[in-house]
Amino acid sequence: MNHVVLTGDRPTGPLHLGHYFGTLANRVALQDVHPMYVLIADYQVITDRDRPGEIQRNITGLLLDYLAIGLDPAKVTIFQHSAVPELNQLLLPFLSLVSVAELGRNPTVKDEIAHSKQQAVNGLMFTYPVHQAADILFCKGTLVPVGKDQLPHLELTRLVARRFNERYGPVFPLPEAMMGARPLLNGLDGGKMSKSRGNAITLSATEDETAALIRKARTDSERLVTFDETRRPEVANLLTLAALCLGRTPQDLADEIGHGGAATLKRVVTEAVNEFLRPIRRRRSEIGEAEARAVLAAGNERARERAVLTLDEVRGAMAMTAA
Ligand code: TRP
Repeated sequence: MNHVVLTGDRPTGPLHLGHYFGTLANRVALQDVHPMYVLIADYQVITDRDRPGEIQRNITGLLLDYLAIGLDPAKVTIFQHSAVPELNQLLLPFLSLVSVAELGRNPTVKDEIAHSKQQAVNGLMFTYPVHQAADILFCKGTLVPVGKDQLPHLELTRLVARRFNERYGPVFPLPEAMMGARPLLNGLDGGKMSKSRGNAITLSATEDETAALIRKARTDSERLVTFDETRRPEVANLLTLAALCLGRTPQDLADEIGHGGAATLKRVVTEAVNEFLRPIRRRRSEIGEAEARAVLAAGNERARERAVLTLDEVRGAMAMTAA
C-alpha cells in the first residue's frame, strides 16, 4: 500500500520521553518507508488558552527536537498551519459537512473542555477537529500515527472525507490511525506524562535536571523491586522507562535490581535515560536555530504547493472555480 503519512504536534512546550516512545521513534522509522508530513499545529494552540504564548520559542524547540531525534528534512516535510493558507481554507467546505450536534459529541473535546482553565469555551475548541481533518486531507494523508485520545478526530476526518466524496465526487482517501505498540509511559508522579505537570523528562533537559526529576519520582517502601503494574504502578513505570531506554524487559531489570530498593532503581533509571538521550542531546546542541528555521521555511513551501493542488481540486469538484 502506498501510504502518505501525516502527523503533528501542538507547539505548547518541549517534547518528552512519553512522546519519544509513543510516536517519535515510530516517525523516524516511517520516514524511510512512506512520504511523510509533520505538522507544527500552531493554530491549534489557541483552542484552550487565550494567547499563543511563547510560540516562536516553542516552534524552534520542536524543530530542534525533530532534527535531533533523526527526522530527515530531505524525506519529511515539516510545516506549520499558519504558513499554509490553502490548508486552512479547506476548513470552510469541511465545516459544512458536519452538524453542530456532531461537533458537540466529540469525547476528546469534552475532556479538554472539562480540563480547560478558560472562563468560556471558544468556537475553535469545537471546530478544531474539523481543522484537523483539513490537516490530514490537504495532502491526502492515509496513515496517521497518533495516540488514543486522537481517535475521535480520526473518525471525524473519515466522516468528512466520506461525505465530501458522496456529495462532490471522489477526491479524498479515508485515512487510518496508526497506534503505537509500546507501553504507555506515565509521568514520574504516576499521572499522565505532561510538561505542564512537571513530571516529564524532556529530550532537551540536562543530565542534572533529569537526575533531579528521577530523584523526586514517587516509589513505595518495599525493598524488593518487582514489576507489578497493578499493585506497584510507580515502580513499574520507572522499570518500563529504563527498559525502553536499554532495550530490555522490565521484569529482567527488576530481577537484576532485586533487593537494591528504590535508591538502586533510581540510579539505574537515571543512567539509562541519560545514556539513551546523550546522542540526541548532543545533536540538538549542534544544530543552529537558523538551520532549524530554514528547514521549516522549506517545508512550509513544499506543504503549500501540495495544499494548492488539493484546494484547486476541491473547488473544481464543488464547481466553485470560474472556467
Ligand atoms: N491534536 C494533536 C495533538 O494534540 C496535534 C495535531 C494537530 C495532529 N493536527 C494533527 C495530529 C493532525 C495528527 C494529525 O497531539
